[in-house]
Amino acid sequence: MVPHDIHSYGNPAEVRVKHVSLDLEVVFDEHSVKGTAVLTIDRVAPHAKQIVLDSRALQIDETEVSPDGAHYREAAFEMGKADPILGAPLKIDLAPDTKFVRVRYSTSPSSATALQWLAPEQTEGKQHPFLYTQGEAIHTRSWIPLQDSPGVRVTWDAHVKVPAGMRAVMSGVDFKMEHPVPPYLIALAVGDLQFKATGPRTGVWAEPAVLEKAAAEFSDTEKMVEAAEKLYGPYRWGRYDLLVLPPSFPFGGMENPCLTFVTPTVIAGDKSLVSLIAHELAHSWSGNLVTNATWSDFWLNEGYTVYFERRILEEIYGRERAEMEAVLGYQDLQDDLRSHAAHDQILAIDLRGRDPDDGMTEIPYEKGALFLTAVEQAVGRPRLDAYLRDYFDRFAFKSITTAQSLDYMQHHLFTPDAAPDKSQPLPAPVKFDVSTWVYQPGLPASAPVPQSEQFAAVDASATAWLRGKQIETKDWSTQQWLRFLRGLPEKLDAHRMKTLDTAFHLTASANNEILAQWLLMAVNNRYNPANDRLEIFLTTVGRRKYVKPLYSAMDAKQAKAIYEKARPLYHPITQATIDRVIVSLRGESKK
Ligand code: BES
Ligand code: ZN
Repeated sequence: MVPHDIHSYGNPAEVRVKHVSLDLEVVFDEHSVKGTAVLTIDRVAPHAKQIVLDSRALQIDETEVSPDGAHYREAAFEMGKADPILGAPLKIDLAPDTKFVRVRYSTSPSSATALQWLAPEQTEGKQHPFLYTQGEAIHTRSWIPLQDSPGVRVTWDAHVKVPAGMRAVMSGVDFKMEHPVPPYLIALAVGDLQFKATGPRTGVWAEPAVLEKAAAEFSDTEKMVEAAEKLYGPYRWGRYDLLVLPPSFPFGGMENPCLTFVTPTVIAGDKSLVSLIAHELAHSWSGNLVTNATWSDFWLNEGYTVYFERRILEEIYGRERAEMEAVLGYQDLQDDLRSHAAHDQILAIDLRGRDPDDGMTEIPYEKGALFLTAVEQAVGRPRLDAYLRDYFDRFAFKSITTAQSLDYMQHHLFTPDAAPDKSQPLPAPVKFDVSTWVYQPGLPASAPVPQSEQFAAVDASATAWLRGKQIETKDWSTQQWLRFLRGLPEKLDAHRMKTLDTAFHLTASANNEILAQWLLMAVNNRYNPANDRLEIFLTTVGRRKYVKPLYSAMDAKQAKAIYEKARPLYHPITQATIDRVIVSLRGESKK
C-alpha cells in the first residue's frame, strides 16, 4: 500500500525505487556535487512507461536505462515545471525490460537546499572548507534524484570523492545502508574530521579542535543506547556515532542513521544539554525504524521520540530530571498553542500547499509526547512499554500513517485481541479518546499536566528574589536556571537586569541554553550591556531555535544591522526563516 504523499511527484505505485547507488565527487571550488545515481527499480505496474522522480535545481546531463545494471543505453527525460516548495518532477522513459536507471547530474551551487558549503573561516580549524547535507523534510531531492517521500524507503551505497586531506562520512556503516530507509535519512558530511570512541558501538566525529571536549561531553552515549534497548528492544543499526557540526548547523540535532548530526552548542562542559542526544538516539526506533509515511504524520516521529527521550533521561539521570524537562516542554507547548491557529494545533496536520518544514512547531513534539503520557496513565507503564516494544517490532523498517498507528493501538493496546506475551492473559479493555487527541486542536480537558518538585523550590526563590532577598542558587541545574529566568516578569527595569547580571554572570554564561534565554530577556528589556555578547552570539551560532526569537524581539534597526553581518554564516533554512522575520519587523516599524 502506498499512501499518497502531497510533497512528492514520484510515482511509486507504478515504478518504485528500491536501491540507490551513488558515485559522486564533492567539488568545493564550484559548490557542487557531481556524478551519477543508479536507481534499482521495481516495476509495480509492469506496463508503466515512465519513472517520475523528485528533483530540485538539479542539472541533469544524461539519463540511461539498463536491464542488467551492466549495459546502459540513453533514455529520454523531461523536466517538469518547478514548484517553489516541491521542486520539479523528472520523468524518464523506460524500456519494457528496464530494471536500472542511471542519472548523471550535478547540484546547483546556489539552490541546493540540502547542502551547506562552509568556508574555512566558518569552521573551528579555519584551514579546510566543510560541507554537510540536511535531508529532512524534502531537501534530499536537491542533491539526489529519487522519489523523495518518507514512504518510499531505499537501501543505498555510495562512493564519494573528496579533496586530499579531507574526510567524508555518511549515515550508514562504511558508506552503505543495508536496511531500507526514507530518503530524508541519506546524509553526507565532508570536512577535517577525526574520530574518538566513547564505547564499543559509539563514538564522536568532529574537527580536531573540538574532538576531546565533545567526546567528554557525550561520554554517556553508550549507556544511553543500553538504556534505550532495555526499554524498547534491540538497536538495529550497528554503530551509533555522533558528528559534531560547525555552529551554523540550523538544528539542535538530526537523527541520521548510525551518525546523528549535532550542533556544537550543546557542548556545555557539564553534560547538562545531552537530552538532545537521548532525543536523536530515540529516533533510531521512532522515526528511523518506524517512519512517518507522509509529513502530516510527522508527530509519529517526533511525539513518540520526545516521550522516549524522557524515558531514557529518567533511566540515566533520574525521574526528577525527566520531570523538569517535561515541565519545560509543557511551557513551550502552551506558548505554541497560544500562537498557532486551531487547524495547526492538530497532531495530524493539514499541510496542503505548504512546506513541511513549517510543521516543525512544539505541537507534534510536545503534544505528541503528552498524548503518550496520557496513554501511559490510562493503561499503566508496563502495558504501554510492552505495546511499544511490539509496535517497533511489528513496523520495523516500515513507514506508517497516523491512521495505521491508531488502528494498531486500538487493537493491540486498548481493546487487545491478543496479549503481546502469549503466555499472559488478555488485558482488560481501556477507554481512551484517541481521536480528540489526534484530530482536535488544543488539549483535551483530561490532559496530564507535568509537575516538578525541583521547580517548586525555584519558583519560591524567584518570588523571594523579586522581593529583594538573597537566594541560594549554588546547586541549581541548567533546567532550574531556565525555570528561574522564564518565571521572572517579562518587563524588568535596568536596575533589576543589572542586579541579575552582576549576581549570576548571565551575559558571560557558557551554557548556550541559559545564554539564549538571558539574551532574549536582555533584548526585551533593552539591556544594552548585553549587546556585544548578543552580536557575537548571532554572528557565530546559526541554530534556528536560538536566533529566531532573538531577531523577532529586536527593533528593526538593530536586527537589520546584525543580520547583515550574520546572514552569510547561516544555513539556507535559517536564512529563509530570518528573512521572513526581518520583513515582519519592517512592517511593524512603519506603524
Ligand atoms: N528530526 C528533527 C529535526 C528536523 C525536523 C529537521 C524537521 C528538519 C525538519 C530532530 O530530531 C529534532 O527534533 N531536533 C530538535 C532537537 C530536539 C532535542 C527537540 C532541534 O533541532 O531543535
Ligand atoms: Zn526529533
